[in-house]
Amino acid sequence: MNDTLFNTDQEDLKAYYTQLEKKIVYHDHLYHGEDNPEISDAEYDLLRRELEELERKHPELKTEESPTQKVGARPSKGFTKITHAIPMLSLSNVFNEEELGEFLERIRRFLNLSPDKKIEIIAEPKIDGLSCSLRYEQGHLVQAATRGDGYVGEDITDNVKTIADIPHEIKGTIPDILEVRGEIYMRRDEFLALNKSLEDNDKPPFANPRNAAAGSIRQLDVEITKQRNLSFFGYALGETTESLGETQHDSRTQLKAWGFPQAEPSGLCSTLEDIMALYHDLETLRPDLPYEIDGVVYKINRLDWQERLGFVARAPRWATAHKFPAEKAVTILHDINIQVGRTGALTPVARLEPITVGGVVVSNATLHNANEIERKDVRIGDHVIIQRAGDVIPQVVEVVVEKRHTNASPFVFPQICPVCSSPAEREEGSVVFRCTGGMNCEAQAVERLKHFVSKGAFDIEGMGKKIVEQFWEKGLIKNPADIFTLEELHQDTLSSLEGWKELSLQNLFRAINDKRTIPFNRFIFGLGIRQVGDATAKRISSVYGDLETLQTEMEQAIDPDSDAFNELLNIDDIGPIVTHDLITFFNDQRNQGIVTQLNGHLTIQSYEAPIIGDSPLAGKTIVFTGSLEKMSRAEAKAKAESLGAKVSGSVSKKTDYVIAGTDSGSKAKKAQDLGVIILTESEWLEISY
Ligand code: IVH
Repeated sequence: MNDTLFNTDQEDLKAYYTQLEKKIVYHDHLYHGEDNPEISDAEYDLLRRELEELERKHPELKTEESPTQKVGARPSKGFTKITHAIPMLSLSNVFNEEELGEFLERIRRFLNLSPDKKIEIIAEPKIDGLSCSLRYEQGHLVQAATRGDGYVGEDITDNVKTIADIPHEIKGTIPDILEVRGEIYMRRDEFLALNKSLEDNDKPPFANPRNAAAGSIRQLDVEITKQRNLSFFGYALGETTESLGETQHDSRTQLKAWGFPQAEPSGLCSTLEDIMALYHDLETLRPDLPYEIDGVVYKINRLDWQERLGFVARAPRWATAHKFPAEKAVTILHDINIQVGRTGALTPVARLEPITVGGVVVSNATLHNANEIERKDVRIGDHVIIQRAGDVIPQVVEVVVEKRHTNASPFVFPQICPVCSSPAEREEGSVVFRCTGGMNCEAQAVERLKHFVSKGAFDIEGMGKKIVEQFWEKGLIKNPADIFTLEELHQDTLSSLEGWKELSLQNLFRAINDKRTIPFNRFIFGLGIRQVGDATAKRISSVYGDLETLQTEMEQAIDPDSDAFNELLNIDDIGPIVTHDLITFFNDQRNQGIVTQLNGHLTIQSYEAPIIGDSPLAGKTIVFTGSLEKMSRAEAKAKAESLGAKVSGSVSKKTDYVIAGTDSGSKAKKAQDLGVIILTESEWLEISY
């Protein structure tokens, strides 16, 4: 594979994305369906992370079939399917101390814990095997299932019963229903012996112990599984009718007492330093352990906190995996090019002598920004160390200074935009140089238009990046609103354009007209406001509900003492930078003009909260005001949304409930005036938990 990630051509980006998606599906199949992978785990992780990163940066590319939407591969034929009572999800990853710190900070924020409150973590080895759910009813092992796609797995009960580590019966005070989840794995010595015997019999050996374990458990002939001497570690619970204590540690102890082996060494830590020390200890121990591990898993020890933290997408918020680092390689840096993004950011890209890192050919790598080039003193012609670990986009880590040519001179970062020649400036506190050309910079204006029509935004069928460029060059579209006047103003010019026939034009106009009605979140996303991705756009749309409210609030928020400003800053995931970008965008006259023009062409659908079940909050619009004591706003909001409520930032006649914490001020007053029901924090807790 070759990485064309830095090709600005969006068409290529889509092709690249599709190729990546297909590749992951292919490797998923080899791994889960055939137990015969062609690439290492580290390589696979990188592919996945690259896809995730691409989707984060370009949500318009994401498809429903994306592997990021699934936990593993669909179950294969031959085994009965089992639907998990509680989905078997995956783990998020952290790759360094900083990301680990962020993981802990997110938890602190979510649970609204004060900075001095101890967060106890239990760390244990991440076993490189395959996960399995064991179901005990009245103490008897009644079912064992693979993870499958996380929701539906395969029935491997008979095979699992051959594993000596797994009790068939557990005694003592036991919950009526107990699901023990854990990892089936093969010890290194067993793996070596198995491969030797396979080779002696002219059979292909397994690539690693994990594949050997997976291949051995999915044998239709149970006798074969039995000869393979598999092992098991228990690490989590699925459905249970009673809890096993108050902490993860308690539940480990109980599981151990019932005979489920636990992965060691493990440890309780409550500081970043302690966790990192344990991580490094495990990294040192790794080669000497009798089984393979590929990282360390951190779990919040308190089970009540685990419960409150819950899940996001395909992973729990209360746990994460810290993988051991992946590969690095040395290559030559041929050139540094500057790319201009949609928001004017100038990104230096290293053009490299192609090299294979972790099975992938890398020819471009990011240099992030001017500071990084200076800090690492990267010069054209240097030998550089690149890595693909953690970050999906390959990075230049450092220069091999000993190999530098004497005539290599420091790189001079351009002070002007390479596309429009406007001065490039750095905002205070920012490391990024930006082109100051704004909409006058072709690169930015065209990129914004491309973004506007893209999948996650207006998704105008048939209006790809190439067409945007063509129309732009002909002067037919300068800003997004122009798209909606194409039919009225430019029919004749369009029909004389190369490649446009009557029918294709009619199709294009139909596709444009189809999008004259647009959900509010897509509209916001389409505006291409700096830092406002798909998720932030959704959040904004759920808080403000409609365009008018959003515009008014943003105009008021220009005053940092205003309620509107604080409201905005209080929104989960919206920090000071996004706040600044939103306010700047909506107070810029040129943008205001475009938004007004667009509004004239469109019907923007207000945000509708999803209706979930029969919760008393389903379909209700609620507003939180004042400070909550038992939880953060983020947690309260996530809870409310999970129960089907729409959380809004301002009180209106449409508000169903206002949850007033302490110091709730003007909003509670407004609610009172409007006759909206006001709940205290404890009343809220009662209906929501
Ligand atoms: S805890 C809700 N602990 O890693 C998920 N998982 O990459 C709780 N794994 O799906 C999982 N060792 O198959 C946990 N000590 C450990 C683990 C572990 C290996 C696997 C597990 C998980 C995968 C995620």
